[in-house]
Amino acid sequence: MASHLLHIDSSIQARRSISRRSAPRRRRLARRHQGGTVTYRDWAPIRCRISMPTADSLGWSAPAEHTPAQATSWALTEQLVDEVKRADTILLGLPVYKLRRASTVKAWVDHLGRSGLSLDPATREGLLGGAT
Ligand SMILES: Cc1cc2nc3c(=O)[nH]c(=O)nc-3n(C[C@H](O)[C@H](O)[C@H](O)COP(=O)(O)O)c2cc1C
Repeated sequence: MASHLLHIDSSIQARRSISRRSAPRRRRLARRHQGGTVTYRDWAPIRCRISMPTADSLGWSAPAEHTPAQATSWALTEQLVDEVKRADTILLGLPVYKLRRASTVKAWVDHLGRSGLSLDPATREGLLGGAT
C-alpha cells in the first residue's frame, strides 16, 4: 500500500512562522513519501474551520439519533480519524503559545477522541494504535 503522510501546521502566524518553515524535515519526508499521498491540514485559526467540540455537538446518542449539529461533528471526526488511521507518518507543526499548544490543536485532539470511532465502546481502548 502506498505510504501516506498527514501534515498539519498549527502556527497562528503566516509569513513570520518558524514551524511552517521546517524545510529540511519536510524535504526528507517528501523524499520518503515519493509516490505516496499527503493530506495537509492548516489549523491556523484564520484558515481552518475546526470548532471546539461542545456538549451539544458531541452528544452521546447513537449516530442514527444525532441532531444535525451532532451529525456534522460526527462526520468531521470520521474524516479526521480516517486521516490519522491512513497515515504512516504524522508531521505536526506544534508551536508553544502562552505555555500551551494552539487551541486549534486541542480542538483537533478533542474531535479525534470519540467512542465508536477512535475508542472501543466496550473496552475504552484506543483504536488509533499503530499510527506513528
Ligand atoms: C503569542 C506568542 C506566545 C508565545 N508563548 C510562548 C511560551 O509560552 N513559551 C515558549 O517557549 N515560547 C513561546 N512563544 C514562542 C513561540 O513558541 C515561537 O515563536 C515559535 O517559533 C512559534 O511558532 P511559529 O513561529 O511557527 O508561529 C510564543 C510566541 C508567540 C507569538
